[in-house]
Amino acid sequence: MPVHHTTRSKNLDAYASLAAGRALPKYQMPEDGINPDVAYNLVMDELMLDGNARQNLATFCQTWMEPNIHAIMDKCVDKNMIDKDEYPATAELESRCVHMLADLWHSPEAEEAAGCSTIGSSEAAMLGGLAMKFRWRARRRKEGKDFSRPNIVTGPVQVCWHKFARYFDVELREIPIQHDRLGMDGAVLAGYVDENTIGVVPTFGVTFTCHYEPVEEICQALDRIQKEKGFDIPVHVDAASGGFIAPFVEPDIKWDFRLPRVMSINASGHKYGLAPLGVGWVVWRDKKSLPDDLIFWVNYLGGNMATFALNFSRPGGQIVAQYYLLTRLGRQGYREIMANLYKSAACIREGIRELGDFETFFGGDPQKGIPAVSWTLHPDVRHYSLYDLSDRLRMRGWQVSAYSMLPNIQETVVMRVVLRHGFSDDMALLFLEDVKRCLEYFKKHPVSVVQTSGEVNVFDHAGR
Ligand SMILES: Cc1ncc(COP(=O)(O)O)c(C=O)c1O
Repeated sequence: MPVHHTTRSKNLDAYASLAAGRALPKYQMPEDGINPDVAYNLVMDELMLDGNARQNLATFCQTWMEPNIHAIMDKCVDKNMIDKDEYPATAELESRCVHMLADLWHSPEAEEAAGCSTIGSSEAAMLGGLAMKFRWRARRRKEGKDFSRPNIVTGPVQVCWHKFARYFDVELREIPIQHDRLGMDGAVLAGYVDENTIGVVPTFGVTFTCHYEPVEEICQALDRIQKEKGFDIPVHVDAASGGFIAPFVEPDIKWDFRLPRVMSINASGHKYGLAPLGVGWVVWRDKKSLPDDLIFWVNYLGGNMATFALNFSRPGGQIVAQYYLLTRLGRQGYREIMANLYKSAACIREGIRELGDFETFFGGDPQKGIPAVSWTLHPDVRHYSLYDLSDRLRMRGWQVSAYSMLPNIQETVVMRVVLRHGFSDDMALLFLEDVKRCLEYFKKHPVSVVQTSGEVNVFDHAGR
């Protein structure tokens, strides 16, 4: 007899409910709701199709949190970061983080430094970029000069700088990379900067190559340019990843406010700051580097409050978690976590090298960049591509990006793994075993034939 219920008894198992017998709504909000426990089960079930975050070796963001962080996020679920009148204690923790970071990055006025939390490095970069634009414009206006054609000079930057340039009408001069120069350096700058350059943005942990652009050398080149041509060009460092790494493991690399030309720095709390998703930081070297006209004053939440973020309402838990982490781990804690990640990076680099099919592209050297490893396929290997390997690894849950490099060297395809808090040497060995398994499979079942042009002919998995 077919089972066809129209009514159900109460307190039944979630999967005995009427709701479990129907698809969840996709396009229209339903008239009636569902029992919360049933709804919870059904919504969580949808999320089963997401990848396992811990095995996501493509992202730079945090995917492991200790239990106290979960508790903090839960307790702070109602805290609105913008409402500093209602939540003065949360605002105080934000301000302490800004001062700690200003001090970590050697601000000459760390106790007085200007800065704020943001939703991530993208918003932080926009604020840093806007401050440069406003300062440049004010100076040009004062000198009676044209201020209609601002430009910004960078190496290979993350998309947030493309957004900044387009949204705020600034010409982006992104210096192309070459085989023998994978980022911006001091030598190329002179051909790109002029009197309309609002700032130069080196990336300290380039998204595509993972290496640090040489901020000190870039500042020295700008000193020479100032002497020769008179342009006084500030530097904003996009230290989305490196800002929370190098100060602990390579404190002698000069990339921060020790260099007088560095005006502002952004970093992602939710990357190597180890905080949960949704927090970035921007800090200016001193109060006068943040133009007054970027600040709005609002009084409708209670007191008279300064705001200079792009967002208004924003969750406060991430900031509380960031403060917890800075105080709970201390410099030594961050140092030990980062040191272990470089160790795991070395383990993966060596394991990949021993497999014989690959050439190291970036080796995870702490003096050169972030704890990440990338490799290319040896030109003699033609029966699969790195895209095939990425697909096949996905079958074991690993998410590993394979991508072509930027214009000029776009024929170079790399596979990259980014090591983050929560990764261990043991996981590195599990990962290497799976790569090895994939290579054995490809030997038996060749997938692709790579043409000399770099094009890939895809065959099915039986090698036809
Ligand atoms: C160098 C760099 N800048 C900016 C960003 C954007 O950061 P967020 O995702 O925190 O907005 C990223 C993200 O990967 C990055 O690598």
